[in-house]
Amino acid sequence: MSTKIAPSLLAADFGNLQRDVEMVNNSDADWHHIDVMDGVFVPNISYGMPVVKAIAKHATKPLDVHLMIVDPDRYIKTFAELGANILSVHYEACTHLHRTLQAIKAEGMKAGVALNPHTSIQLLEDTIQDIDVVCLMSVNPGFGGQSFIENTYDKVRALKALITKKEAKTLIEIDGGVTALNAKLLTDAGADVLVAGSFVFKSANPTQTIADLKQIAG
Ligand code: DX5
Ligand code: ZN
Repeated sequence: MSTKIAPSLLAADFGNLQRDVEMVNNSDADWHHIDVMDGVFVPNISYGMPVVKAIAKHATKPLDVHLMIVDPDRYIKTFAELGANILSVHYEACTHLHRTLQAIKAEGMKAGVALNPHTSIQLLEDTIQDIDVVCLMSVNPGFGGQSFIENTYDKVRALKALITKKEAKTLIEIDGGVTALNAKLLTDAGADVLVAGSFVFKSANPTQTIADLKQIAG
């Protein structure tokens, strides 16, 4: 299976959101990555439901919604209704993670769990079989354009080993600071999905950059 590329619309031009969503539609990208931040779980507020609705109206690829919010259970149904296909919650924001995962699946979505850089993958030992996507944060969540944390490679390898040991089907997604320089190292370590914001949208030719990333990642 080839690596999936998920451009993060956080780095899009919000004044030309339809244009940028259509660029992703017409590119080699696989998913639209949508970052929702509440200013509490992370020290930044990105956008909320009306913007997600506008993205969904124009998007033709799966919507990969990354919730960086406290108490995400309150909004699972809302994001399902908005058209999310994959809904990721943060491990650090869930008191009853297993219940949250079941609630996401009950709404017909794939269930994702995001881990902050300081959170060990071993904490997923008892839930990995219930998780469709683990999103490993390779920066501290809250902002685009940060530098990639090198310890991520070890986490990818450890997570891959856990998935294999438990015979799970979980995909490994990497989020933060992904570029052409680390894409291949990440997939060699076991990553299945690469999120890229700044590297795609701040480039001269985003469509070509997505194609390049997809090719490099293999
Ligand atoms: C960070 C977000 C990321 C972000 C990635 O909190 O979860 O998805 O948009 O942006 P880059 O690729 O610029 O690091
Ligand atoms: Zn994200």
